[in-house]
Amino acid sequence: MSRHDAAPAPHAGAPAPAGSAAAATPAAADAPSREHLVLASGLPRLEARVLLAHASGRRREWLIAHGDEPAEARAAAAFAELAQRRRDGEPIAYLTGTREFLGRDFEVSPAVLIPRPETELLVRAALERAPHGARIVDLGTGSGAIAVSLACERDDLRVLGTDASLQALEVAIGNARCLAAQALASSRLRLLAGNWWEAIDPGETFDLVVSNPPYVPAGDPHLSQGDVRFEPSQALAAGPDGLAALREIVAGASARLQPGGWLLLEHGYDQDVAVRALLAGAGFTAIATLPDAAGLPRVTLGRRPE
Ligand SMILES: C[S@@+](CC[C@H](N)C(=O)[O-])C[C@H]1O[C@@H](n2cnc3c(N)ncnc32)[C@H](O)[C@@H]1O
Repeated sequence: MSRHDAAPAPHAGAPAPAGSAAAATPAAADAPSREHLVLASGLPRLEARVLLAHASGRRREWLIAHGDEPAEARAAAAFAELAQRRRDGEPIAYLTGTREFLGRDFEVSPAVLIPRPETELLVRAALERAPHGARIVDLGTGSGAIAVSLACERDDLRVLGTDASLQALEVAIGNARCLAAQALASSRLRLLAGNWWEAIDPGETFDLVVSNPPYVPAGDPHLSQGDVRFEPSQALAAGPDGLAALREIVAGASARLQPGGWLLLEHGYDQDVAVRALLAGAGFTAIATLPDAAGLPRVTLGRRPE
């Protein structure tokens, strides 16, 4: 099931959305219109509409169609608080508690990286290479965006997602319950806690290993700018050159891959040369880098020789 169908999920830190109760509560005739709240918020119009829709328990399309009508008091108060938090810099996805990834709404919290559109490339590349019945591990699953999407896209795949953060894993389990309940119940989708390869039984092997690990250099100024400031540093930073996690994953991958199996890694736009060298050094063949929608090198993959 996609959470597109459901009312926006309340986030622990957000004011309770007014939801259908707000719709049932008549607004004062002299209350400002919804569109006025949007325009007066000081936020980009799209962001303000997303937050007002969340605060009202309505879809954005409904809000646009009913923009001239007076806003309900509860929705207006909830929106005012959300708009202030956004002006203070909190990411929209943490305020609404959701982010769309490959057409499904994933719950997110400040315990997880907000899934990025670039990562959809990694999932598509994995789906193209996964043979029927493939066993796949997603290392550093975060919200579960990659692991849950793979399990949802193909019901022949057996997917394991792991993460060192228990709080992140809780979010991933919530998303799996909501979006891939059957796969979770039948253990076709599993989620485990632990440090990279240590999380997995020593004898377990895979046809594909996929990961979007932390890859930002620890001192990078971007870590203290914009939305990224609010994301967990464990999900972002990886040693002085940003390659610490990628090195660890590549080093252990051959022993966990079946002959002919694929390793697919997301990385920074300027790390493709380094990641290809890591894969070559570990004996991988058919090494290639795929560009993201902006044309930047984003996913590097390689094959364990047969
Ligand atoms: C960049 S985020 C990716 C999250 C998710 N896969 C996505 O693409 O949206 C990296 C994830 O790796 C996890 N992580 C960091 N260090 C780890 C470690 N030593 N072992 C396992 N997971 C780790 C973080 O908790 C985080 O969830």
